[in-house]
Amino acid sequence: MVHSVISSQKTAAQCYEADNVVCDGTAHSGKKEITAQRDGSEAETGKQVRERTARLRQINARLTAEIAERRRAEQALQQSQQLLRELGRHTGEIIEEERKRIARELHDQLGQNLMALRIDVLMMQRAAGDDHPGVAETVRSALNNIDSMIKNVRSIINNLRPAVLDLGLSATFEWEVKEFERRSGIACTLTTDRSEFQVDDARALALLRILQESLTNVARHANADRVDIRLHGDRRYLYLQVADNGVGDFPSCRRKANAFGLIGIQERVSALGGNLSIATEKGKGLTLTASLPLPVE
Ligand SMILES: Nc1ncnc2c1ncn2[C@@H]1O[C@H](COP(=O)(O)OP(=O)(O)O)[C@@H](O)[C@H]1O
Ligand SMILES: [Mg+2]
Repeated sequence: MVHSVISSQKTAAQCYEADNVVCDGTAHSGKKEITAQRDGSEAETGKQVRERTARLRQINARLTAEIAERRRAEQALQQSQQLLRELGRHTGEIIEEERKRIARELHDQLGQNLMALRIDVLMMQRAAGDDHPGVAETVRSALNNIDSMIKNVRSIINNLRPAVLDLGLSATFEWEVKEFERRSGIACTLTTDRSEFQVDDARALALLRILQESLTNVARHANADRVDIRLHGDRRYLYLQVADNGVGDFPSCRRKANAFGLIGIQERVSALGGNLSIATEKGKGLTLTASLPLPVE
């Protein structure tokens, strides 16, 4: 038992020597080897870390370049959207100007000529008197044709040159709403909180076009039998609300390809610094509200 203890102590001492390599040359060279091994693996680890760091740097540089590229693309997109908006506004202004010009020419040339022709034919009718019943009949029919042509030209002129520029906002709205009611058979109410609105041409024209597009949408999409239109204002804003009792729509329906009515309204309102809101629920109609700020006095 004792022996075995001694023997086991001896072994422990040997083990200590072997492990810690203290006394002879062999042990010393073992230590060097281990140190070299340790240095080798440290160098290896260092290399790996350096390689990995370099790779991470590369990835980082690539990501930074990608982010910068995306930012540039985003800015370019925003710029081109802004340009498109300005182009749309500019095109709209040109169209309005062109319509006014055509209306003026129709009025000054065709309109005046038709009036002159009517007077001439009237004189012929008088000259023919009762002596030439055949001629009188033909002249009467020519007069009727001329009258209906005059009426048509007037209506074309009215459609081209917005009446709002001549008649004012309230009268134009009344006329538009009545016309819409007659054409569509949809019952309309128009409420205004004053007899006349003092607004500049740009705002008057924008409100008229918004009303026209909203009513066209009601006739085309809403399947409504009633529309309530409200035009009111305070010292800072003018408000136009068009509310129908039709099918309503979902937001996704409004962004259709080739559907530019609501976008056009939005652009007109934004161009004048205003706001557009659309409230709708399936089966409960659609209410469009546009508010336009008035110029500061
Ligand atoms: N009053 C409305 N009631 C129901 N849906 C409507 C109404 N107004 C607009 N919409 C929906 O919004 C869409 C986009 O309208 P709009 O931009 O004017 O284009 P468009 O009339 O040419 O289709 C319509 O196609 C329709 O689905
Ligand atoms: Mg439309």
